[in-house]
Amino acid sequence: MTHKKSISSNFGLADALLSTPEERELVARLNAGVTRMEESLESNLHFGDAHTDTIARYLFEAGGKRVRPLLALIAAEYGDPTHEDIIMGAQVVELIHLATLYHDDVMDDADLRRGVPTTHTVWSNSVAIITGDLLLARASSLASTLGDDMVRLHAATFERLGLGQLHETTGPQNGADAVAHYLQVLADKTGSLIASSAVVGLMTSGAPREFFGPLREYGEKIGVAFQIIDDVLDLDGGETGKEKGNDVRNGVATLPILLARAADDGESVSLVTRIDAAIAAADDSTFAELIDELRASRHTVETVARARRWATEAVDALGILPDGLPKQALVRFASRVIDRTQ
Ligand code: IPE
Ligand code: IPE
Ligand code: MG
Ligand code: MG
Repeated sequence: MTHKKSISSNFGLADALLSTPEERELVARLNAGVTRMEESLESNLHFGDAHTDTIARYLFEAGGKRVRPLLALIAAEYGDPTHEDIIMGAQVVELIHLATLYHDDVMDDADLRRGVPTTHTVWSNSVAIITGDLLLARASSLASTLGDDMVRLHAATFERLGLGQLHETTGPQNGADAVAHYLQVLADKTGSLIASSAVVGLMTSGAPREFFGPLREYGEKIGVAFQIIDDVLDLDGGETGKEKGNDVRNGVATLPILLARAADDGESVSLVTRIDAAIAAADDSTFAELIDELRASRHTVETVARARRWATEAVDALGILPDGLPKQALVRFASRVIDRTQ
């Protein structure tokens, strides 16, 4: 069973793009593209035995927003949007993303993902790690059908993604600034793949070369905004299908807590001290209340403001692109990244 909702309308594009026949046509094409991407991915997620397939298909079947394929499809509007390689390109970026979720949940000791228990809690850490590797191997082999440039792009992207995850884990070294370190981690672990998703759409649709730089910069910046909002949503739980406060509990640096730790007013110092104490004492109910307090604090307001600035800069990067429907869709996509609740 795959995710059946209409994703581009789900992600809010339809609301803004439904007044003219051309806009309706674009939304229908994007939705059809996401559906074809899912069908193709579904048919490629087989590894030979039923038990392995159950594990490898587990998170795919649990849903997800399919944001990266959607961005690839929007970018493909700058070339020939009917080109048959586009769906394969969109599928590869979703598959790489999927693989990273198997690994990330082990690293973050997360219990819930896409509304279901995480893979390592259902099976084991070893099973989740090696299944992530299997998915990556499959992504590489599918990417190779699109040529050497595609393989090179994904190799470089995955190297950055891995470095981002590693640097998040090792933390800032030799007195480096914690917020600057954090932003570099975000660009690497999340911006890299979102930027490459846009580039994949351009490559597979044969779009003009001069569009690559602006779309890559848009993707990178909107990726940072997306991840900053992910940090805010960590404090909400709710519609995310993830456990509330998991990053803070597990010591993953997120912007609201980093800003709270950097502040020297009494209220912030007290909040951080109480959060640390609740974590140390494994006091879940106090911890949940403190996460609500952090969510309502000025540090989270500032976090959202910073995400909004990244999204504005992402849209500014589109400056040289021709005005028209694809650009409108990218602007709308940027505002959804900020307003999203899941
Ligand atoms: C989760 O990504 C991991 C991040 C980089 C924040 P998404 O929020 O796109 O996850 P799904 O695919 O919708 O589950
Ligand atoms: C996920 O980052 C980034 C990658 C999977 C590369 P997070 O750990 O912040 O994302 P969630 O909140 O678990 O989805
Ligand atoms: Mg995580
Ligand atoms: Mg993580």
